Amino acid sequence: MKREVKMKILIIYNSTHHGNTEKIAKVMAEILDAELVKPDEVDVATLSKYDLIGLGSGIYHGKHHKSLFELINKLNNQKGKKAFIFSTSGMKKVHFFHEFDKPLKRKLLEKGFRIIGEFNCRGWDTYPFWVKPFGGVNKGRPDEEDLENARSFAKYLKRMVESNQSVEEKHKYK
Ligand SMILES: Cc1cc2nc3c(=O)[nH]c(=O)nc-3n(C[C@H](O)[C@H](O)[C@H](O)COP(=O)(O)O)c2cc1C
Repeated sequence: MKREVKMKILIIYNSTHHGNTEKIAKVMAEILDAELVKPDEVDVATLSKYDLIGLGSGIYHGKHHKSLFELINKLNNQKGKKAFIFSTSGMKKVHFFHEFDKPLKRKLLEKGFRIIGEFNCRGWDTYPFWVKPFGGVNKGRPDEEDLENARSFAKYLKRMVESNQSVEEKHKYK
């Protein structure tokens, strides 16, 4: 008989500019049946009960929101705990030129996390003074296509964790 294993997933996000990243976090949480919290709501003592932790925010001056870094600073070594990261940004992510995911990734790896996925899409941005008169850039984003991409990404994560989980369970009950 197949043994059902309920995964526990936590998504930690901050979304201070236009709530762009919150839209992404919410559709991912729906697919993953995850708890959704802000960094300052996280009780670090409870993190060990989660099978997967997602961290995301808008990109501000080339990196994720500082509250995520402050939270990670408080953690002990996570010994291979699975994590994924996500972001929304004004600019398109371009390798070697605009790699704003790197600082958060580096921080998570330093703390012993295993990163199993990354997601980014554009978000409505009215920050640069030169775009303000035109109502900003990427107006309307994340749009329905971005949200659908976020759902597909979350489904991929779910498959990854479930298949890994069943392998781990099999070994446990051998
Ligand atoms: C203070 C500030 C700095 C920003 N810096 C960047 C940046 O360095 N690179 C980028 O691509 N977008 C930048 N943006 C645009 C945001 O990343 C984008 O609008 C994002 O979708 C905001 O997400 P949020 O609504 O969830 O906060 C910046 C926005 C603000 C307000």
